[in-house]
Amino acid sequence: MSLFGNKESVKGKKSLVIYFSRADENYAVGNIEKGNTEVIAEYIQELTGADLFKVEPVKPYSKNYKACCDEALEEKRQNARPELKKYLEDISEYEVIYIGSPIYWGTMPMSMFTQLEKLDFTGKMIKVFTTHEGSGLGTVVSDVKKICKGATVLDSLAIQGSMVYEAKGRVQNWIK
Ligand SMILES: Cc1cc2nc3c(=O)[nH]c(=O)nc-3n(C[C@H](O)[C@H](O)[C@H](O)COP(=O)(O)O)c2cc1C
Repeated sequence: MSLFGNKESVKGKKSLVIYFSRADENYAVGNIEKGNTEVIAEYIQELTGADLFKVEPVKPYSKNYKACCDEALEEKRQNARPELKKYLEDISEYEVIYIGSPIYWGTMPMSMFTQLEKLDFTGKMIKVFTTHEGSGLGTVVSDVKKICKGATVLDSLAIQGSMVYEAKGRVQNWIK
């Protein structure tokens, strides 16, 4: 990619959003075509020009909410590292990495661990965001700090999943 590409952040820093998000049946908002975290990831893209990378496990979670909860809990219990459809291998061209995740059982879905553990975050600036239904950031910030060695983790943002369509202003203030 070009050093002088047009994907610069508001601070003039080249940015990337790494996120997980699931559509289908959701806790608070019924069946949705686009996951809550993806809505926020796209705001960041719109506001900063960031590139997006979506983490997608080979075996998708059930469309049914309760079944999805059970699957995700089992993965957490096993400390699993689910296989992904594609892997991001190199983030050297980016200065700012936004890490976005729904809260699953207090932290990120295990597929986010699969992806983040593959990358070298040395010297990067990281901004964590979550969508949730009560747990806020959960343990995501401390989990990210453990995985993403050598990075500076800046201020984080937690948004209630059912409020994402009203949250663009908050996202904008957070990015500034
Ligand atoms: C498997 C699963 C586990 C969840 N665990 C939590 C939780 O521990 N705390 C919480 O506040 N919300 C929890 N939620 C709600 C999600 O974090 C919330 O709906 C989020 O906005 C979903 O994001 P998405 O639409 O981008 O996938 C859970 C949802 C699912 C599907």
